[in-house]
Amino acid sequence: MTTTPHPAWLPDDAFTAIGRRRVVVAGDGALAGTVAEEVAAATARFGGSFSRLEVGDGVADAELVLTLTPPGLTEPGPTEPGADVDESFRFTREGGAVVVQAPCDAGLLHGLFHVVRLGEAAFDGPDADETHAPATGLRMLDHWDNVAVHPVMGQVERGYAGGSLFYDDGAVRADLSRLERYARLLAAVGINRVAINNVNVHAREALLLTDDLPEVARVAAVFRRWGIRVHLAVSFASPILLGGLATSDPLDADVAHWWVRAAARVWTAIPDFGGFVVKADSEGQPGPFAYGRTHADGANMLAAAVAPYDGLVHWRAFVYDHRQDWRDRSTDRARAAYDHFRPLDGAFADNVVVQVKYGPMDFQVREPVSPVLAAMPRTRIALELQVTQEYTGQQRHAVYLGPQWSEILGFRFWAAPGDAAADDSPTVADLATGRGKAAEDPGTGAWRKPAGGFAAVSNTGDDEFWTGHPFAQANLYAYGRLCWDPGLDPSALLDEWAGLTFPGAPDAVRAALHAVLDRSWETYEQYTTPLGVGFMVRPGHHYGPDVDGYEYTPWGTYHFADRDGIGVDRTTRTGTGYAGQYPSPWREVYESVETCPDELLLFFHHVPYTHVLHSGSTVIQHVYDTHFEGVERVERMIEAWSAVSPLVDERLAERVAERLAEQLRSATEWRDQVNTYFLRKSGIPDERGRTIY
Ligand code: GCU
Repeated sequence: MTTTPHPAWLPDDAFTAIGRRRVVVAGDGALAGTVAEEVAAATARFGGSFSRLEVGDGVADAELVLTLTPPGLTEPGPTEPGADVDESFRFTREGGAVVVQAPCDAGLLHGLFHVVRLGEAAFDGPDADETHAPATGLRMLDHWDNVAVHPVMGQVERGYAGGSLFYDDGAVRADLSRLERYARLLAAVGINRVAINNVNVHAREALLLTDDLPEVARVAAVFRRWGIRVHLAVSFASPILLGGLATSDPLDADVAHWWVRAAARVWTAIPDFGGFVVKADSEGQPGPFAYGRTHADGANMLAAAVAPYDGLVHWRAFVYDHRQDWRDRSTDRARAAYDHFRPLDGAFADNVVVQVKYGPMDFQVREPVSPVLAAMPRTRIALELQVTQEYTGQQRHAVYLGPQWSEILGFRFWAAPGDAAADDSPTVADLATGRGKAAEDPGTGAWRKPAGGFAAVSNTGDDEFWTGHPFAQANLYAYGRLCWDPGLDPSALLDEWAGLTFPGAPDAVRAALHAVLDRSWETYEQYTTPLGVGFMVRPGHHYGPDVDGYEYTPWGTYHFADRDGIGVDRTTRTGTGYAGQYPSPWREVYESVETCPDELLLFFHHVPYTHVLHSGSTVIQHVYDTHFEGVERVERMIEAWSAVSPLVDERLAERVAERLAEQLRSATEWRDQVNTYFLRKSGIPDERGRTIY
């Protein structure tokens, strides 16, 4: 950690427009102090002027005023669903002079970064008066970091960007200066909560809750200056592991009392602590099932312990049988979360957020949107995304996930594909944020669907570029911005990110970034797993192809390819019944092989290789065509980038070149293994006669 990290989307030059103006910051509060420091540094660097005034003082000649709303003018309007502070701000521009006014200092900080993002355009445009507020107050990033290096998973589970930003050598880092830079980057994209340790809580990490509290408090102090609250992942067995109790039964009085005291200690050490994240009864983690209790019993017991401090319990719905017999065709992992959680709708305490992965399996490049998101109208639901590219190229491949997330966020469970009349029906973003028409009480207009917000697994580490692949920064950027406003266009976000990260770069650089990234999600899908089948990765580390790698394992991730066909029958009529977990119209759409969208066909149906897709191609020909095309697209990505790489920072260019070469190697391997596998299985040649081995 000796090299200065790359500035990502906050290079000094991103502050040029602010830095050369006369700027006033008015207002108290820790975050107003942070804003003042940022502005002071920028104006000192670029020749502007900075003054710190009281709210309401005369500011006649200022070109930018960042101020708390003067007393008496604060409108008490509703805060965002799930918010504990009002993070909104008002942006006005009159004759080129800009005022950012916020009821709370958190809004002032967001307002500052709004102006940073706009740059000169903040001051240039026509007069404006806009109010900005996040879609939800719960915009969280989960770090799967281990304190001690785990023998299999390393320091950061599913981490592809070096070591942990938090821990080194079995302890919280002594020097938290890089963490400070990181917190600043997160604040600039609107993240306001971080969980700082792995959801798989091993023995060393369990101690964060007790012995290490002073260290966690140091971390929380760093994030606090940036309006970000800290959460811990905790082991459900903590009363046994840490408290010496014989049980962690959630209905045992001593267990509940142990958690009450644990919570009291945490909030004494860290008064603005956020809460607990829990992975229970999942992939070997302890949970309430051992005692014959439900997930609601478990979550509610913890919720009661943290309620006095307005703490939250993020309880993950990633619960399935990971010791399945592959011979057993009746068990379907995709069904599991719904089967476990749907019956518990309405049973969770108000401060429990059930955190649901976007798909029913596990962060694949393509999955249907998890039906659990639609199935629990009386439960706070957080949508869980994976910024770290576990199954999407592990930050060696350039894969921009903004389009995938945008598609998920905009998905409407109660609207037929292409039915414009159904625009009123809620999107996934509405369900997570408690917004949208269907989420409102028709009588009062108040939010009826409680908000759970967003959570995602982080992709950062102590790597020089934070994310391994420098372009993976764009994913973290887009995640934060989509949490703030799920309606943002992912391609426009790429522009925003590129404009900040490569300030002053010629248009050609931006065009090349679009050429590489715009369709990179689809490209990755093309050269890896076809038509929604998923999981053809090497077991364990999950990188690179291994078509049958998981086929005879206990993990419940099968494709059932034989000489005649491939895919999983998840219909209600002849299959596992998973399609029936969707409300209409999607249950019917997915049920029928006629209407099921091509990209999910093999997720829902077992079909012959000769089955004709809506695209007009057969399944087998589609496999061949997409795999050849995917690799060709990677070749074109490399051409596009090589032409502009001399125009950017040399180290960055080197890193990108090295990653793109690996992407091409890996994509070629995927193409050849997948094509060869299916040629051998099916005996059907490529109609274009290309080389398959
Ligand atoms: C995946 C991932 C694990 C992780 C798990 C989870 O299965 O491979 O490393 O622990 O998801 O989300 O809990």
